[in-house]
Amino acid sequence: MTTKSPCLTRLVEVGAAHIDQLATLLIDCVEGGASVSFMHPLTRERASAFWRSVALDVAAGQRALWIAEDEGGVCGSVQLSFDLPENQPHRADLAKMLVHRRARRRGVGAQLLEAAEAYARDIGKLLLVLDSVTGGDGARLYERHGWQRVGDIPSYALFPQGGLCSTTYYYRRLDLPF
Ligand SMILES: CC(C)(COP(=O)(O)OP(=O)(O)OC[C@H]1O[C@@H](n2cnc3c(N)ncnc32)[C@H](O)[C@@H]1OP(=O)(O)O)[C@@H](O)C(=O)NCCC(=O)NCCS
Repeated sequence: MTTKSPCLTRLVEVGAAHIDQLATLLIDCVEGGASVSFMHPLTRERASAFWRSVALDVAAGQRALWIAEDEGGVCGSVQLSFDLPENQPHRADLAKMLVHRRARRRGVGAQLLEAAEAYARDIGKLLLVLDSVTGGDGARLYERHGWQRVGDIPSYALFPQGGLCSTTYYYRRLDLPF
């Protein structure tokens, strides 16, 4: 267990070293049972391919990406996607909130969430939307930070080791106080 506070960065360019460490992060979360689009076992090749596509979106300005780093390298990440229909320029989707198991329960997720919300506010977004496993660690994080629960969709996705899970949709108005 590390104790130093992680350092947060918004990446404007995502290089090979970052992709490698982000792949390690994603593999760790999937191994730990997080339902984040991928099934177990997640190969390094597939995980790296995912982050390479994220890197292209970041370069194209369609996505913002934050990393948290500790002594072991990248220990957390979150994204905002702006790749939305033309009638929704005022909002963004928050996605892939990931904290490595070695770094959990010391506020990294909260810091990533606050950074993404602050940036969205700075660039004039009024509304954020996300979905998260019903009753999961992510759901508690979002509810603690004032996200409004919309509702649950049963049997929405699979857990990485199998078995259906429900998802909960949340939104966060950025034009209103917490
Ligand atoms: C969801 C997730 C990102 C949370 O990350 P995290 O860094 O552990 O989040 P935080 O540390 O901010 O909060 C987690 C818990 O630690 C507690 N905590 C925060 N700082 C703490 C500290 N210094 N000491 C003790 N507890 C602390 C929080 O109160 C919270 O408690 P709770 O879960 O009982 O409500 C992480 O569990 C994760 O990556 N899960 C797998 C991927 C996933 O499911 N992502 C969500 C996709 S939508």
